[in-house]
Amino acid sequence: MTEKNFYITTPIYYPSGKLHIGNATTTIACDVLARYHRLMGKDVFYLTGLDEHGQKIEAKAAETGLTPQEYVDGMAVGVKALWELLDISYDKFIRTTDDYHETVVAEVFEKLLEQGDIYLGEYSGWYSVSDEEYFTESQLAEVFRDEDGNVIGGVAPSGHQVELVSEESYFFKLSKYQKHLEAFFKAHPDFISPNSRMNEMLKNFIEPGLEDLAVSRTTHTWGVPIKSNPKHVVYVWIDALLNYATALGYGQHDTTKFEQFWTGQTEIKSWTDENGKVWEFNVASNVNHMVAKDILRFHSIYWPIILMALDIPLPKRLVAHGWFVMQDGKMSKSKGNVVYPEMLVERYGLDPLRYYLMRSLPVGSDGTFTPEDYVGRINYELANDLGNLLNRTVAMINKYFNGQVPSLSAGQTDFDADIEAVATQAIADYHKYMDLVDYPRALEAVWSLIARTNKYIDETAPWVLAKDEDQKGNLGSVMAHLAESLRVVAHLIAPFMMETAASIFSQLGLGEVSAMEDLTFGQFPENVTVVAKGTPIFPRLDMDEEIAYIKDQMAAGKPATEKEWVPEEVELTLNKPEIKFEDFDQTEIRVAEVIDCQKVEGSDKLLQFRLDAGDAEHRQILSGIANFYPNPEELIGLKVQIVANLKPRKMMKKYVSQGMILSAEHDGKLTLLTVDPSVPNGSVIG
Ligand code: MSP
Repeated sequence: MTEKNFYITTPIYYPSGKLHIGNATTTIACDVLARYHRLMGKDVFYLTGLDEHGQKIEAKAAETGLTPQEYVDGMAVGVKALWELLDISYDKFIRTTDDYHETVVAEVFEKLLEQGDIYLGEYSGWYSVSDEEYFTESQLAEVFRDEDGNVIGGVAPSGHQVELVSEESYFFKLSKYQKHLEAFFKAHPDFISPNSRMNEMLKNFIEPGLEDLAVSRTTHTWGVPIKSNPKHVVYVWIDALLNYATALGYGQHDTTKFEQFWTGQTEIKSWTDENGKVWEFNVASNVNHMVAKDILRFHSIYWPIILMALDIPLPKRLVAHGWFVMQDGKMSKSKGNVVYPEMLVERYGLDPLRYYLMRSLPVGSDGTFTPEDYVGRINYELANDLGNLLNRTVAMINKYFNGQVPSLSAGQTDFDADIEAVATQAIADYHKYMDLVDYPRALEAVWSLIARTNKYIDETAPWVLAKDEDQKGNLGSVMAHLAESLRVVAHLIAPFMMETAASIFSQLGLGEVSAMEDLTFGQFPENVTVVAKGTPIFPRLDMDEEIAYIKDQMAAGKPATEKEWVPEEVELTLNKPEIKFEDFDQTEIRVAEVIDCQKVEGSDKLLQFRLDAGDAEHRQILSGIANFYPNPEELIGLKVQIVANLKPRKMMKKYVSQGMILSAEHDGKLTLLTVDPSVPNGSVIG
C-alpha cells in the first residue's frame, strides 16, 4: 500500500547565530523531499522552526543586551527571511516559545512524572553550556588534571569547555526502555538511513547500556518551567523533540493534522527475540525526520523512548546525512571559512545553490565545500551540459521546423532505442534514490540522461540530416527525442531547481510544470511550439574570478575581533631612552587617596596635597597642576597614583614634597591619573 500523506521535519535550529550553509543544507534537503512527494501526488506537511530555549540562548541574549524573548523574536525574522530567499515550501514554522507548544511540554512532563518515567534526583557531572549537555569523564575529548591527578576540567567532543556542575535534577528512566529500543531497532531495520548509522547507534550507544537522562535544569530560567516544581525548567532537548508532535496539534484541542499525518496510518513492525518473545511496535507510516549526524543520538534514542512512554506510534524514518566541512576542517567564523547562503544566491541565483548542495549532499560520510567545486559544477554541469542542450534544441527546432515540435514517430534513427532505454532507466533510478534520500545519485541518474542526450546530437548529426530532404522525417524524430528528453529532465529536476524546471517547460512551449506520478519517456504532447528565441538558463562563469570572489567573501565573514594577532616587532616612538626592566623596577608607584588639597600661597602653579598612601602617617606632595584644577577641594577623596620613593625635596623654602603625583600630559594639559575607588590605599602599581 502506498501512503497518501507525507510528513517531513527539519531539526529546529538554535537561533544563537546567523544560520549558515550547513543549516540551509538540511532545510533544502527537506524541501526537495516535500516538493518531490507533492509532485508524486501526496498530501505533504513540511515542518521547520526554531529551538529557542536554553542556557545558550539566554547567554547570547544577555550579550546583546536584549531579553531572551526579544532576542529570539529578532532571530526568527531573519531565519524566515532566509527560508523565503531559498524558496522553502514549509507548511508550518514552529517556535518552542509558542504558547501551545510550551503548554503541551509542561503537561507531558507532568504526565511522565505521574507515570513514574521521570523521578527527582541529584546530578553531578561535566557540563558544556554550548552543547547544553552533560558528559561523563570518559566522554570528554580532553581532560585537565591537577598535580595529584584529579580531573579539574576538560573539553567536550565538540571542542567546548566543560565545568563541573551539581544540581538537583529530574531524570528520565531510559534504562526502563533499553530492551524496547533494542527490539525496535531489530523490528524496524529501515528506521535510520543510511543503514550503516543504525548499527553505529545500536553498537556504540544502546547495547552498552542507557543511563538515565537528566531532563530538567536549575542553572538557568529560560525554558518551560516544570508545573509541580517551577524552580526547574524542562531540559531543552525534551522541549525541542516534542515540537514534531505539538506542531501537528498533539495534546491540543484540534488534532486533525496529528491524526492525518501521524496516527492515521500505522503499521506493525515485529521481532521475535532469542527467548521467543514477540515484540511489536506501532509505526506511523507517514512520519519522516531529517537531521545530520551530530544530533542522530537524540533522535534515534531519546525520541523513540519519549514516544514509547507517551504511547505514540514511532517514526517511520530518520534520515541522517553527513556534514559539509571546509578544506581546513569544520566551518568556523574565526577561521574565516564560513559560507552564508545569501552571498551565493545574490551572486549566482538560487538554483545553482540548491543544485550544488544537493548534488554534493554528504549522505554517508562528510562532504567538502570548495569554491572551485561550486563554480565548476555551475559551469560544467549546469551551463554546459544542461543549459547548452536546451539552447541547441530550441534553436534547432526553430531553424528546421519553424518552432513546431515534430512527433516522436516522425521517423527513426539507430540511436532512438538507446536514448529511450537510458531515459527509462534514469527515471527508475531517480525514484529509487529519491526514496532513499540519496540526492547525489538521483541527480547523477538525471545527468546520465543529459549526457546521453548530448551524445545523441553528435551521433545523429542533425545538421547533416537537414541537408537531405529524404531525411526530414528522421530529423523530426531527432528533434522530438531531444525535446522529450528535456521534458523528462525538467520533471525530474523540479524538486531541486524550480525556476530552471519552469524555464525548460516554458521554452519548450509546455506551460507549467505538472505532477510526475506517471512520468515515462514518450509522452510529449502534440502541437507544441517552442519559444522563438531561447534564453540561456545558466550564464558561463569566469572560473578564476568567481573562485577568488567566493574566497574573499568567506574571509570577509571573519569577525574583526577574532582576527589573528601577529606578534611581530614594531617600531616604537619614544620620548626618552630605553631602560631596562630592573631600572623601572626601582620605582615604587602606589595608590594614594587625596585627604586634603589646597592652593599654595604665593604660587600660581602649585597645589599642596595631603595623601593617604598606606604609610603610617599622611604624606605631603606638592604638584604643579593648579592651572588645570581651579577647585582643588573637588579632588578630595580621589585615588591617584604617586611615585612613593622619590627623594623628598624642599619647595618654596618651607614645604617638603614627599613624592610625585602622576599625571598624563596631552596638548600641554595635565590630567591626574586616577584609580578605581575599590583599590586600597598603598597598593603597589607595577
Ligand atoms: N536545536 C538542535 C536541534 C533540535 S531538533 C529537535 C540543534 N540545532 S542546530 O542549530 O545546532 O542545528 C543542527 C543541525 O543543523 C544539524 O543536525 C544539521 O541538520 C544542520 N547542520 C549544521 N551544520 C551543518 C553542516 N556543516 N553540514 C550539514 N548540516 C549541518 O542541534
